[in-house]
Amino acid sequence: MQTLYSTAQIAAVVQQLGKQINQDYAAQHEPLLVLIILKGALIFGADLLRQLTIPCEVELIRASSYRQGTSPGELSVAWGGIALEDRDILIVEDIVDTGQTARALIDHLGTISRSVKFCTLLDKPMRRTIEVPLDYIGMTLTGDPFIVGYGLDHAERYRELPYIAVLD
Ligand code: IMP
Ligand code: MG
Repeated sequence: MQTLYSTAQIAAVVQQLGKQINQDYAAQHEPLLVLIILKGALIFGADLLRQLTIPCEVELIRASSYRQGTSPGELSVAWGGIALEDRDILIVEDIVDTGQTARALIDHLGTISRSVKFCTLLDKPMRRTIEVPLDYIGMTLTGDPFIVGYGLDHAERYRELPYIAVLD
């Protein structure tokens, strides 16, 4: 597999995102609720959190699109018992592809929380089927490579890679 982003490149991007988020929420009094979307954003979320200097809380939710291989399927979100009312929420996602997952999350949270912003490590704009507002984007992919590593999987494999690679 060919490396697309090295561990050092990812770290620099995550640091930059953290800096931006810290600046944007600097005047905020209530803790920010960082909502990490499992499983893909597990590693990105953990690294991003350690760049934050603003008061924050963390919740994890599972959003699965029942992908078979590389094509998207039906989305299910396990909201659990998380209190989202009147919260300022930052959604943390690994990658925005068609935009369906992001759209569903933003629509659901938009009705109950005070504010919602979306942070994604990776963006694949070429594949978008629905428009979504993305507030923080780490890296934008040109073309349509299927990528793995740093939390991203192919059929549950390769999440453990400390870099991002293009699937063979
Ligand atoms: P969307 O709903 O089509 O935007 O899909 C978003 C989800 O699809 C992400 O959270 C990933 O879990 C998965 N996904 C999309 N593209 C890739 C990829 O290139 N590699 C691994 N997972 C991907
Ligand atoms: Mg995901």
